[in-house]
Amino acid sequence: MDRPLKTFFIRTYGCQMNELDTEIMAGQLIKKGLSPIQDEDSADLLIFNTCSIRDLAERKVMGKLGLIGRGSKKNVVIGLTGCMAMAKKNNLFQKFPHLDFVIGTNNITDLGHVIDEVLSTRRQVMKTDELFEENLDYLATRRESKVKAHVSIIRGCDKFCTYCVVPYTRGSEVSRPPESILEECRSLVDQGYKEVTLLGQNVNSYGKDQPEWNCRFHDLLARLDAIQGLERIRFLTSHPVDITIELMQALRDLPKLCQFVHFPLQAGSSRILKKMHRIYTAEEYFEKVDQLRSIVPNVSLGTDIIVGFPTETDEDFEATYEAMKKIRFSLAFIFAYSARKGTPAQRWKDDVPEPVKEARLQRLLELQDQISSDEQHQMLGKTYEVLVERFNKDGRMLKGRTRCWKKVILEGPSQLIGTLQQVHIHSFSHQTLLGKVVQ
Ligand code: 5AD
Ligand code: SF4
Repeated sequence: MDRPLKTFFIRTYGCQMNELDTEIMAGQLIKKGLSPIQDEDSADLLIFNTCSIRDLAERKVMGKLGLIGRGSKKNVVIGLTGCMAMAKKNNLFQKFPHLDFVIGTNNITDLGHVIDEVLSTRRQVMKTDELFEENLDYLATRRESKVKAHVSIIRGCDKFCTYCVVPYTRGSEVSRPPESILEECRSLVDQGYKEVTLLGQNVNSYGKDQPEWNCRFHDLLARLDAIQGLERIRFLTSHPVDITIELMQALRDLPKLCQFVHFPLQAGSSRILKKMHRIYTAEEYFEKVDQLRSIVPNVSLGTDIIVGFPTETDEDFEATYEAMKKIRFSLAFIFAYSARKGTPAQRWKDDVPEPVKEARLQRLLELQDQISSDEQHQMLGKTYEVLVERFNKDGRMLKGRTRCWKKVILEGPSQLIGTLQQVHIHSFSHQTLLGKVVQ
C-alpha cells in the first residue's frame, strides 16, 4: 500500500458481540480519519471480523480469504479480527500470506497502532493477548442503528461447556465498570437512543470477578433502569444456573426491562447435559422455568439447542424434543454439533452421522415453527407496544419489535422511527407480524 488509507469496510461474521466489536472498531477507524464505505471491493482497508463457534462459520471466512489471495488485491490492507484470530493465530499467516494483520478479541484497542505498524514496516503484524484490558473507547462506537444499541457489559466466559470454543477465543470473564456502562448509556440517550441490549457471553456473571464493586447484574439493571429517557433494556445471553431470584424479581419490577430471557437449554437429556458440562440437569432447568414463569407470568423465553452431540441416542434426542414441546420457547436457535479444535468434546468420537443430525435438526425446526405460529395466532387482534426501529427491507413499510422481541411490520410515516407506538396486530406472514398503529 503506497498511499494513505482513506476508506474501510468490515465484514462481520457470528454473534451480536462480534457485531458490536465491528461497531467499536469502525468508531476507532473514523477517529483515525478513515471513512466507512459500502463497497467491499473498493475499500483501502478490509477487515474480516470472524467467528469460530461452528465449523461452517470458519469455512466461510477461509473460502473468502482464499479467493482474495488468488485475486489481485495488491493495494489493500487486509486484516482478520475476532475469534478465528485467537483459534488459529500464526497458522493464518502461513495459510494466507496476503493477510497484513491479525488482531484477537482482546486487542481491539490496538487496531490503530497495528495498522500504523503494518504501513511503516510492511510486515505482517499479530496481536492476540489472552487477557482483556478494559480500556476501549466505547463512546466513539459507530453504530448502524440510531434507535437501539448494543452495550458490552462483560467479556469472556468461565463456563467451559465441553463443545464450546468461546472460553478459549474470548478468554476469562472480565466485567466492565458500572460507571463506564452508565456513562455510555446516558450518552446514548442524549443522542436519542431508546433501547439498549446489554451484551455478554454470560451477563448473569456480571460483577462476580470484581466483588469490591458491590454491583451484581440485578444491581446494574436497577441503576440503568433509573436513566431518564431510556425506554427499554434487554440482555443477552444468560446461563441457566446463574439466573437468580433477584434477576427474576428485576424482570418483574423494573419497568424498562423487557420480559424476554434467552437462556440456552442446549439439550433435554440430563446425561447429555452432563457430558456437555452444562452443570444443570433437565429437571433443574424445568424448575428454573417454572420459577421464572411464576414470578414473571408474561415472560418470553429463548433458547439455543445442539443436536447430534457425541453419543446422543434417539432417546436423548426425544428428551430434547419433549422439552421444547413442554416449555414452548418463543425463539429457538437450533444447531447441528460440529467438533471445535481445542475443546474437550473434540477428543470424543463425533459419532452421530450427519444425515441423523440433519433429520433431528429438521424435526426441531418444524416443532418450533408450529410453536411460533401458534404464538402468532394468539397475538392476532391484540395491541402491543412496538419500538419503531427503521424502514423494512422493502423501503416502504416500517419495522419494529414488541417488548417480547417479536418483529412487527407496520405502515406509517418515517417520523415514527425512534418512537414507541401501540400497534394492533391484524395478520402475520411467516415469522413476521403485521400491524397498524392505534391512534
Ligand atoms: N457445535 C454446534 N453448536 C455449537 N454452539 C456452540 N458450540 C457449538 C458447537 N461446537 C451453539 C450453542 C451456543 C450457540 C451460540 O452456539 O448452542 O449456545
Ligand atoms: Fe460457550 Fe458454554 Fe460459555 Fe456459552 S456458557 S459461551 S456455550 S462455554
